[in-house]
Amino acid sequence: MMLQIPQVLTKAEVAECRAILDAGPWVDGNLTSGRQAARAKTNEQLPQESDAARTVGATILRVLEANPLFVSAALPQVILPPMFNRYGQGMGFKDHVDNAIRHDPVSGRRLRTDLSATLFLAEPEDYDGGELVVNDLYGDHVVKLEAGDMILYPSSSLHHVTPVTRGVRTASFFWIQSLIRDDARRTILLEMDVAIQRLARQVEADDQGILSLTGVYHNLLRQWAEV
Ligand code: NI
Repeated sequence: MMLQIPQVLTKAEVAECRAILDAGPWVDGNLTSGRQAARAKTNEQLPQESDAARTVGATILRVLEANPLFVSAALPQVILPPMFNRYGQGMGFKDHVDNAIRHDPVSGRRLRTDLSATLFLAEPEDYDGGELVVNDLYGDHVVKLEAGDMILYPSSSLHHVTPVTRGVRTASFFWIQSLIRDDARRTILLEMDVAIQRLARQVEADDQGILSLTGVYHNLLRQWAEV
């Protein structure tokens, strides 16, 4: 499933993050890529170990862990440290699929990328082009969100970033290993959780139907979760 998560960061938080990021030590994005990506990509990235990346990355992780829609949709087991890129005029990223396995610099473990996330950190009117285009069974989805909004999509999807023709597109991107590897199962759990929350607002807290449905949700999670 593709899911837009609005206002992960407030506009004030975006401004604070951008002040830190814009002063950071940006380098050619291909210093960190494999061979396939290097052919496809022209952008700049912040080194993961830089203070700017670490500081803003910690902010993003903190707000995500407190975001109910993100937690319900991603069911995260591990969120890899957020990374940062920017595309100036003429820069873009051709069609590719993200690597299935990534190295977590925090734990030293290898992680499976189930979900990819892009958190937009520039306002759409500040640049032309720079759309994220995600291809799935239903066709191409063109994504260009307000600063502070985020898109979650299956890491298995073919995707690209169209060339920027004016301004600069700054974003954070990262991956999530989910408790639920399978996208269809994760989607069912999200839909069920959203429905339970909606019903819970309409009935008494001890309603037997809600209690039963909540039990079913947790038992499905127990059946499917990989921890
Ligand atoms: Ni990608």
